[in-house]
Amino acid sequence: MKTVRTIADLRAVVRGWRAAGETVGLVTTMGALHEGHLTLIDAAAAGNGKVISTIFVNPSQFGPSEDLSRYPRREAEDAEMLAARGADLLFAPPVDEVYPDGFATTVSVAGVTEALEGKFRPGHFEGVATVVAKLLLQSLPDRAYFGEKDWQQLQTITRMARDLDIPVEIAGVPTVREDDGLAMSSRNAYLSADERRIAGTLNVVLREVAASVAEGGDPEAAAEQGAAKLREAGFDPVQYVAVRDAEDLGPPRPGTGGDGRAMRVLAAAKVGKTRLIDNFPVEMKV
Ligand code: PAJ
Repeated sequence: MKTVRTIADLRAVVRGWRAAGETVGLVTTMGALHEGHLTLIDAAAAGNGKVISTIFVNPSQFGPSEDLSRYPRREAEDAEMLAARGADLLFAPPVDEVYPDGFATTVSVAGVTEALEGKFRPGHFEGVATVVAKLLLQSLPDRAYFGEKDWQQLQTITRMARDLDIPVEIAGVPTVREDDGLAMSSRNAYLSADERRIAGTLNVVLREVAASVAEGGDPEAAAEQGAAKLREAGFDPVQYVAVRDAEDLGPPRPGTGGDGRAMRVLAAAKVGKTRLIDNFPVEMKV
C-alpha cells in the first residue's frame, strides 16, 4: 500500500486506475483505527476494484473545548492495519494541503444538521461537510463508505452529496460493537475501567427505547425514560436521548398501514470527560 500526502499525487494514482478500468471505493477517517473503520475498508474492497483510505484529523470539525490536540494519532500502526486489510492507497495530507493560506469556503447543510449533535457541537457538521466534500472531489471515487455509528453525519453527507451533485454513491455500514454492545470508537481509549463499565449500558438502554417505541410506546416518554436510566447508570450529563425521523432527523412521523417513515433512537452522553454517541433503528412490527 502506497502513502501519498498531496492532492496531485492522489489524483495521479486514481487517474492510472481509471485508465486501467478500475472502480474506486473511498473510506475517510481521522485515524486511530479500530475494527469499525476496518469493516468500512472490507465493504469498500468488496464493492470496488481499488480502495483509498484517508487519515486526516480535521481541525475544522472540533470545537474550541474539544479534544483536537489530544486526539490519538498513530499513523504507522494505522497504515499497517490498512495494508493488511487490502487498502490500496493511503491519503494522509498535512493540514496546509487541505486548508492552504486563504482558504475561505464552508459547506453548510441545513435541516438535518440542526438538532442533536448540531446543538451540542456548533460548527461541527460544517467542518465535516466541508472536509468530506473536499475529500470526495479530490479522489472522485465511485462509492464512499460511512459508518452508521455516526448516523447524523451519514445523513448529512448523503444530503450534501445529493444537493451538490457530487457523483459519488454514499454507502452506510452497520455499527461494529464490542462484546457488551459498546459501539467501537477511537474515544473509548480514554475510558477508565469504571467508566468502561458504565459505557457498556448505553447500547442496552437505547435498544430498550427502540423496542418500546416499536411496540407502540410513546416516543417522547420512551426517550425520557431512557435518559433517566442512563443517569442512574452513571452518565453525567446525558445530553440527549431522542426518537427521530431516520432520514431528516426531524420529529418522528410514525403513521400506520405502512405509510410511516423509519425512526431512529439517538443519544449522546458523557462518562467522566469522554463523550459517547450511539443510535439504533426502531424496527416496527408489521
Ligand atoms: P472517524 O471518527 O475516524 O470515523 C471514520 C469512519 O468510521 C466514519 O464513517 C465513522 O462513522 C466510521 N466508524 C467509526 N466507528 C465505527 C463503528 N464502531 N462501526 C462502524 N463504523 C464506524 O467520522 C469521522 O472520522 C470524521 O467525521 C470524517 C468523516 C473522517 C470527516 O473528518
